[in-house]
Amino acid sequence: MRAPPTAHRGLRIRPYRSTDQAFVEQLAGEAFAEFSQRPGAHTLSMLRTGSTLIAERDGRPVGFSVTDFRGEGPAHLVAIAVDYQERGLGVGSALLAAEQARARRRGSPALELCTADGNLEAIDLFRRRGFKILRRVPHYYARGQTACVLRHDLG
Ligand SMILES: CC(C)(COP(=O)(O)OP(=O)(O)OC[C@H]1O[C@@H](n2cnc3c(N)ncnc32)[C@H](O)[C@@H]1OP(=O)(O)O)[C@@H](O)C(=O)NCCC(=O)NCCS
Repeated sequence: MRAPPTAHRGLRIRPYRSTDQAFVEQLAGEAFAEFSQRPGAHTLSMLRTGSTLIAERDGRPVGFSVTDFRGEGPAHLVAIAVDYQERGLGVGSALLAAEQARARRRGSPALELCTADGNLEAIDLFRRRGFKILRRVPHYYARGQTACVLRHDLG
């Protein structure tokens, strides 16, 4: 199903501000509860080493993504999540496109990410946006799920 043309109305991707912390912690707590014992705190720790984008609709935050650009190799998209009520409207795709664009601008050779093997909705989305499955890593997550590593070459 394609996002309807009105779905992008009022949608904007912008850099993270310190006032977004409570939003990120709460959304991560809901979105990543099945992967981590302390998903909110774990995601906040990623903000210290990564660079975060916020998706907002009509001035209200509705999603975020975090990419770690450290090192010479691929950039790592370490988290992406969208408010439950806003899913399926193109917010995740807009965040992903912004992450791909800034990784390319910074000269990263590729953008890599990890998601649970069973997260079929997310894996489908990433594959439709140019990612290929690289490998699977058993017992990667704190709760024992297998991870699926995906990569989008930017060269
Ligand atoms: C994965 C996730 C970020 C996608 O965000 P999203 O805003 O729903 O994504 P989009 O709307 O841009 O695209 C989702 C695709 O699924 C389709 N879709 C239809 N109904 C949907 C629904 N109820 N929910 C999600 N996607 C739906 C969309 O049409 C779109 O298809 P397309 O590729 O043909 O355009 C979001 O589902 C999420 O926050 N999940 C929980 C956290 C997570 O698993 N993160 C990924 C691992 S870090």
